Amino acid sequence: MAKILLKNGQVGCALGVYDADVLIEDGKIVNTFDWGGKHEADETIDCKGKIILPGLIDVHVHLREPGQKYKEDWTTGTQAAVAGGVTTICDMPNNVPPVLTCEDLEAKRKLVAGRAYCNYGLYMGFNGQNISEINKAQNIPAVKVYVANSTGNMGVGPETIRELFKKCNKMIVAHAEDEQMIQQNAQGYLSEYGATVGEDGKLSVPKEAKIEPSVHSKIRSAECAASAVKFLCELARENGKKLHIAHVSSDQELTVLLDYQDTGVTCEVAPHHLLLSDDDYATFGNFIKVNPPVRSKTDLFTMWKAIKFGEVQIIATDHAPHTLAEKEQGYMDAPSGIPELDTLLPILLNAVNDGGLEMKEVVKLCCEGPAKLFGMKGKGQVEAGFDADLVVVDMEKMFEVKNEKLFTKCKWSPYAGSTFKGCPVMTFVGGELVYKNGKIVGKKVGREVEFGG
Ligand code: DOR
Ligand code: ZN
Repeated sequence: MAKILLKNGQVGCALGVYDADVLIEDGKIVNTFDWGGKHEADETIDCKGKIILPGLIDVHVHLREPGQKYKEDWTTGTQAAVAGGVTTICDMPNNVPPVLTCEDLEAKRKLVAGRAYCNYGLYMGFNGQNISEINKAQNIPAVKVYVANSTGNMGVGPETIRELFKKCNKMIVAHAEDEQMIQQNAQGYLSEYGATVGEDGKLSVPKEAKIEPSVHSKIRSAECAASAVKFLCELARENGKKLHIAHVSSDQELTVLLDYQDTGVTCEVAPHHLLLSDDDYATFGNFIKVNPPVRSKTDLFTMWKAIKFGEVQIIATDHAPHTLAEKEQGYMDAPSGIPELDTLLPILLNAVNDGGLEMKEVVKLCCEGPAKLFGMKGKGQVEAGFDADLVVVDMEKMFEVKNEKLFTKCKWSPYAGSTFKGCPVMTFVGGELVYKNGKIVGKKVGREVEFGG
């Protein structure tokens, strides 16, 4: 493989940004050097005025294969990733069928092998009965447990979750919302629309009811999330288990998490919980219906503060594409989820330009942090011997979000029409240039990550 020299740029690391040339060969970083040195290379790329970051690692995406290719597939999903500066994703198990057994996991491995532009890891899910399969599974980032139902209806009851904490030998990543509280709230808030509970316990609403999408944030309230976080943290403490809370969205969840710092519990925040609030239902309706829901402006502010204070360890997208037609349905039928991969790095770089974030925080939250927390071998740093997964960014370049230019198959974004200052201009995966200036220019070189590093 060619030796490539990225010359005259700056390198981003967890301590800040420094001037350096970066030499890569055979998919690895040979080293970083002071400017002005002489280094043999087959190709030299001038990075003057640009910053070279470790490729971003997104530990929370839903690429919809197997089973729902009409929403997203591994070509479009991983194209969206590299366009958004992401060189490694961890894909969630709520597929059709869900990934619950070692056989399911192997089938998914076979299905996606050779079809990804970026590197990847594959989660296994928990259905209340598959702890032995989870314990047998090799090389997964973690097991994903849904405390409440969301897309795929993988919610499981508290007793089985207790079992999981006692018996499972993997890290646990949790979708923390309290199902019972959600059901109660739904009955309450939807009764004014004529909702009734049937003999099967299911809630039904008259077809003609015009339900305000903003009710979603009331039904799946911050209290629901905080209650589930507390339940999970207690179990983590009792069992000495490593727990990671997905998409924390509110002050209340963070307050609970602070009480359990002794357990080593970690958490992530999604871009929509940093950018969108319940005020935005008026504009976007069900397009910003997501689980957990968008919160108040105060919560948004708290999430930014939590990042600054180190209370949140990871930013992860929860990229959850659904088609336009699906999202245009009424509240009861519109699925939850927002596509976020294409726009991840422009959003973060814009925040750096605004002074809301520092580049070293981007590296910590999106590169080094996730690599270390999930034990990803060779990932997350621009250092000798690490994988040459790199993203070159231009902090001056404007990125206007246009639906038709997105790589995600669903071709919509709540940020369409927004312009972010700062964006990726080149993305390298394993030393191969795969994305350049708005275009996919490389091959599907993504590989499964090795966990346990
Ligand atoms: O809004 C969401 N969408 N939350 C989830 O937990 C799942 C995701 C999806 O897969 O659509
Ligand atoms: Zn998710």
